[in-house]
Amino acid sequence: MKTISIAIDGPSGAGKSTLAKSVSKTLGYLYVDTGAIYRTIGYAAFSKGVDPKDGEAAAALLPELEIGLHYGEDGLQHMTLNGADVTDQIRLPEISLYASAVSAHPAVRAHLLEMQRKLARENNVVMDGRDIGTCVLPEADVKVYLTASSLVRARRRYRELTEKGIACDLKEIEQDILDRDHRDMHREHSPLVQAEDAVYLDSSDMTLDQVVDAIGRLIDQKIDGQAGGRA
Ligand code: DC
Repeated sequence: MKTISIAIDGPSGAGKSTLAKSVSKTLGYLYVDTGAIYRTIGYAAFSKGVDPKDGEAAAALLPELEIGLHYGEDGLQHMTLNGADVTDQIRLPEISLYASAVSAHPAVRAHLLEMQRKLARENNVVMDGRDIGTCVLPEADVKVYLTASSLVRARRRYRELTEKGIACDLKEIEQDILDRDHRDMHREHSPLVQAEDAVYLDSSDMTLDQVVDAIGRLIDQKIDGQAGGRA
């Protein structure tokens, strides 16, 4: 049976994962957070003291890594690295930079491509990342490019961190976001770019509910009536 894929790409902090979680829950599809997979490799480089910008060193690391993606009873995606659950560790701020750096290497991207495509062959998925609509699933049924201004994204991140009691600086967060955008958008291999057939949505002045409504309508138009549609 043909499975259905919804691809959501965009820069960090644009609200992709919140949108993807909501849509996948409504439709009963699997939510695949591909950033978490890159983060797992970034975490491996970090814990082994490997320079994430060194493509050869990052590639040499890959055969030693057993990367697992599991869904807990909570329905959430958990990542394992050589058998250990690293779901929390990969969210540490320093791992964002490691993930972004290792993700620039073609060997790393090639290593993860089939894992992502297999998930989409075997399940109806909502997959978010940077190159889902352009490279991983070019035939996705629905493609969304979700973005927001760097200041709005920094404010969202600032709120998240301060709510957790973590002291932080808004300007520094915005600068980190701009640096990561630059790296993800200007790398040679699979840079973050809007797919030609993706719907562009700027969420700077929208609430999450408005974003979910807008994308929900789009999905209804595109996939209703297709075989294996809503679960
Ligand atoms: O979505 P995220 O912030 O968790 O992703 C972490 C890094 O992984 C991001 O800076 C770029 C990289 N990434 C990628 O290159 N391709 C993807 N499909 C997803 C993430």
